[in-house]
Amino acid sequence: MPNLKFFRPTWAEIRLSALRTNLLKIQTIAGPRAKVMFVVKADAYGHGAAETARFAEREKLAWGFGVSSVEEGLALRDSGIVSPILILGSLYPFESFVEAINRGLMVTISSLDAARQVAEASRSLGKKAVCHIKLETGMGRIGARRPSVMKIFEELAGSGSAEIGGLYTHLACADGDPGFTAEQLRYFSETAAAVAGRGSGGLIRHAANSAGLLNYPESRWDMVRVGLAAYGLMEGFEPALSWKTRVVFMKTVREGSYVSYGKSFKAPRPMKVATIPAGYGDGYIRRFSNAASVLLAGKRCPVIGNVTMDMTMVDVTDVKDAAVGSEVTLIGSQGNESVGARELADLAGTIPYEVVTLITSRVPRIYI
Ligand SMILES: Cc1ncc(COP(=O)(O)O)c(C=O)c1O
Repeated sequence: MPNLKFFRPTWAEIRLSALRTNLLKIQTIAGPRAKVMFVVKADAYGHGAAETARFAEREKLAWGFGVSSVEEGLALRDSGIVSPILILGSLYPFESFVEAINRGLMVTISSLDAARQVAEASRSLGKKAVCHIKLETGMGRIGARRPSVMKIFEELAGSGSAEIGGLYTHLACADGDPGFTAEQLRYFSETAAAVAGRGSGGLIRHAANSAGLLNYPESRWDMVRVGLAAYGLMEGFEPALSWKTRVVFMKTVREGSYVSYGKSFKAPRPMKVATIPAGYGDGYIRRFSNAASVLLAGKRCPVIGNVTMDMTMVDVTDVKDAAVGSEVTLIGSQGNESVGARELADLAGTIPYEVVTLITSRVPRIYI
């Protein structure tokens, strides 16, 4: 166990070398002309935004960072990040433009109203606001269709205070549905051409998330915005996060005894049961009850009974060496065995993004 400043032995390890490998691979795939925006919203998908962004900046692994809100951007600035930061969300209330501009955060503009407000805020501050205009191409979340984008473009270009730094869109189905994605990319490409016709040469055009980067070369444009691949949560990349704990209690149970709340598990034979100090209060969600496996001494051990808020029970009958203090892996590898975020996501009917983002703040993150 690393040198930890906590007693409860449940922690997540983030391997920075995996982030490096992944981000370098992403740059190679994106090509030398495309910038890499490392998406570190939601505390870097649970990996820790400040630490991962500082590492990426120090090692020159990314041109800039994508966050979801002014708060996340300010936290990065407070942690010393000087690279470009783009707020990917739609800013509201509009006073938040002031804070964003003051701290040099680039903003997403998805409506004419927002364009007017950002121009006004930047005029009154006497500071340039760098804006990335968001085109709606099929995601149906935030963004303006082409006629509105043209008006936003004129509003910002004519403002004398705001700068148009980019035009972008977001792909809804880049991990499937090629027809839909092609249509999104076609609309984006035509809009980029229309905007270029109005004399904005230097703008950064971007559309690709991780799946776009891998599956649609034509989506790479001038920048790719990647999260999932950078954290190694896609095939072909190295997982950066491992989630670990240690056995805090061992017992044997008799055939027919129950384990945990609700009597959902009844021992079919005498069993050796280990209790680990991790539960849904840590983000090890209740859907893993009687379904997930953990690793102990390189063996898969099934979770038995319902996951509780702070503790979970596992069947270690077949693990000779299991004892109080044994290291247990919830996500990660031991020997030849591994449990990935994808496996847990499948069990819970969700996606790997959610599994890692749900790991709560009471789980210390250790950087290796
Ligand atoms: C606007 C935007 N761009 C890029 C990303 C990164 O996506 P991924 O983690 O799939 O690479 C996200 C994440 O959801 C996003 O919302």
